[in-house]
Amino acid sequence: MGDPLRHTAVAQLDGSPRRRYYTGRDLARAVAVEDLRAMTHRRMPRFVLEYLEGGAEEEASLARDRSAYGYWRFLPRQLVDVSQRTLATPLLGREASMPLVVAPTGLNSLFRHHADTLLAQAAAACGVPFVQSTMSNDPMEEVARVPGLRHWWQLYVFGGEEVWQELLRRADAAGCEALVLTTNAQIFGNREWSTRTQATKTRLSPSSAIDAALHPRWLASTLLAHGMPAFRNVVDFVPKDRRGFFETAFWIREHQPASLSWRTVERIRQRWRKPFLLKGLLHPDDVRRALDAGVDGIVLSTHGGRQLDWTVAPLEVLPEARAIVGQRVALYVSGGLRRGTDLLKALALGADAALAGRAVLYGLCAGGAAGAQRALEILHQEALDAMGLLGVPSARELEPGYLRAVDAPGPAEPAARQGHRDWASDVSSR
Ligand SMILES: Cc1cc2nc3c(=O)[nH]c(=O)nc-3n(C[C@H](O)[C@H](O)[C@H](O)COP(=O)(O)O)c2cc1C
Repeated sequence: MGDPLRHTAVAQLDGSPRRRYYTGRDLARAVAVEDLRAMTHRRMPRFVLEYLEGGAEEEASLARDRSAYGYWRFLPRQLVDVSQRTLATPLLGREASMPLVVAPTGLNSLFRHHADTLLAQAAAACGVPFVQSTMSNDPMEEVARVPGLRHWWQLYVFGGEEVWQELLRRADAAGCEALVLTTNAQIFGNREWSTRTQATKTRLSPSSAIDAALHPRWLASTLLAHGMPAFRNVVDFVPKDRRGFFETAFWIREHQPASLSWRTVERIRQRWRKPFLLKGLLHPDDVRRALDAGVDGIVLSTHGGRQLDWTVAPLEVLPEARAIVGQRVALYVSGGLRRGTDLLKALALGADAALAGRAVLYGLCAGGAAGAQRALEILHQEALDAMGLLGVPSARELEPGYLRAVDAPGPAEPAARQGHRDWASDVSSR
């Protein structure tokens, strides 16, 4: 299977015995998020995988999001009664089954038809919130009908002020309980690997098109059966002659004002009375500024390594951010979470919760709502088990004393850039 370190880079032997992730179709046999990822890579065409996996330029931010977890090791306590363990935690004042939120991701219909609804169903089944992206494909009113859903709306500011005003009005009417303004994506990140799969802005390269045609199961569950997806929450704001799938995405990118500033944050704060979070902060001064702006929460994030390259990882600034905010607002991290132990490290370093992007998307790609649910269940179970081994009965008790920083590089830093290329050709289905 090529370089055994290329995916997780820890918990791997030196190549013997040869290891295999599960790549069949039985979700119950996926024992880790990496299995769901392997299933995804087997199922999806290359251009979709580049969209899902890729980061900006050298993908240094992407790699660091993940490797930052490796700089922290556990100091477990022994002889603690861990027979009753719980991850249940209040998030924005309401109990969640665990301190995890399904992160906003756009263009999900490339993965599955009605993917936003499927993700929402998985989140609701697992008792965690789902953040729906402005660039999602299912109408927010439709997603809002998922029973038991805790529905948060992620806002990209584009066009004139009337656009976000209208989106906020609709989100409120649809019962969204929180608003998440993404601050680090007004200029679209330079995702070269993804760009290389296109011949033009609106057309795939011939090799990508052939590769897509060679993935009939993916085609059948997306474009063939349902046609090109639309950005149904925003398409009405786009000129009629620019409403194709790729064209809408590009039109919106072109109309995201680079002048977005704290002034807009203040305007939105005045307008939106429910919980309001900023997503994409990293600098401590911005964390301080966010407190002044009266937000209810902050999500430290590099946008999954897809925006500015060579940033620090959210995890690295987390302890400092916690010291700044104290208990005044919610503090979340997003980026690189693939394991229950990652979640525990984030909590111990001061996060109230983590937002998981790709980990849940791998489940979605592998098996729709059931697959996304499987991803969440795996993370939940891994975290609960690790708490037991760590000697911590309740997630709320996690604190930095359970961790020690080590200076050796963590997982995936050298490996992540190799990404998923050629994955499908050298995995075996069991
Ligand atoms: C395919 C994909 C699409 C994304 N789309 C959005 C989006 O529309 N809005 C947003 O705020 N963040 C978006 N993000 C960033 C995620 O919300 C999240 O911060 C990131 O995926 C975290 O890293 P992880 O994938 O390693 O968990 C996207 C990420 C991915 C992978």
